[in-house]
Amino acid sequence: ASPLTCILEERRGPVGLITLNRPKALNALSPTLVRELVQEVKRFDADPEIGAIVVTGSGDKAFAAGADIKAMQPLSYMDMHKARLFGELDELSSVRTPIIAAVNGFALGGGCELAMTCDFILAADTAKFGQPEIKLGTIPGLGGTQRFTRAVGKSRAMELVLTGDQMSAEEARERGLVARVVPAADLLDDALKTAGKIAAQSQPIVAMAKTCVNVAFETSLAEGLRFERAIFYSTFATHDQKAGMAAFAAKEKPNFKNE
Ligand code: CAA
Repeated sequence: ASPLTCILEERRGPVGLITLNRPKALNALSPTLVRELVQEVKRFDADPEIGAIVVTGSGDKAFAAGADIKAMQPLSYMDMHKARLFGELDELSSVRTPIIAAVNGFALGGGCELAMTCDFILAADTAKFGQPEIKLGTIPGLGGTQRFTRAVGKSRAMELVLTGDQMSAEEARERGLVARVVPAADLLDDALKTAGKIAAQSQPIVAMAKTCVNVAFETSLAEGLRFERAIFYSTFATHDQKAGMAAFAAKEKPNFKNE
């Protein structure tokens, strides 16, 4: 495999840590960065030792300040169409391993969209969210008009998409875009600890729970409840449900085997 140039990846026990690493460009998403990110997320997803993934940005200023404007500026419609620019990010939706976005600063445009593509967001108190594409004469292209609207509601999403204004971490928490806000200095530790808690659970059961929550955004309530019930019953066909409930009854810690 060719060496990584735009991201860093490391293992922290059962947690895969990916750091977007173009600090001079505020970690802007270049085509290479996106390719490397998707490649490494898929590599962690295929690794049975890894139970959760954290994605963060290098430096203390940005998670990612968007798609790389300078790389996109000369592209024609046909260039974008032929390259399926950023289409690889769709592959993150089929990753089973939970992905936490640890947003350590600006999450703008494609940066906000990448964070929203992850399973949940932990934000530093210094984080800023927004979809400023309108100011560049374009619109969000990685889910901003869809996921942002579902997360914060139509009115505020519409205002931010049409003005390009930013939202504070605290507002993002109040509106449900982010799970929790933590002091910037504690963000990475908190994200790794949270990821560690997930990685300590049964991986197949975690994947089932994740799928069910995601289905809530894709279907009607009645269909979603039916889907959840079927998956709930199917957990009873696993070793780990037996181990988890037996351990509870014996007042012990469960020994999950991921099967
Ligand atoms: N693409 C390319 N380079 C970027 C960038 C981006 N999205 N964001 C920042 N940079 C670069 C700057 O050009 C600058 O480089 P130089 O030092 O070579 O000039 C460097 O990062 C530092 O940025 P600033 O000097 O601008 O830092 P600042 O603190 O003054 O401002 C900021 C910070 C408000 C985040 C500002 O950088 C900014 O507005 N960035 C662009 C945000 C944006 O418009 N994002 C949307 C991109 S389009 C998109 O994402 C489409 C999509 O949906 C897929």
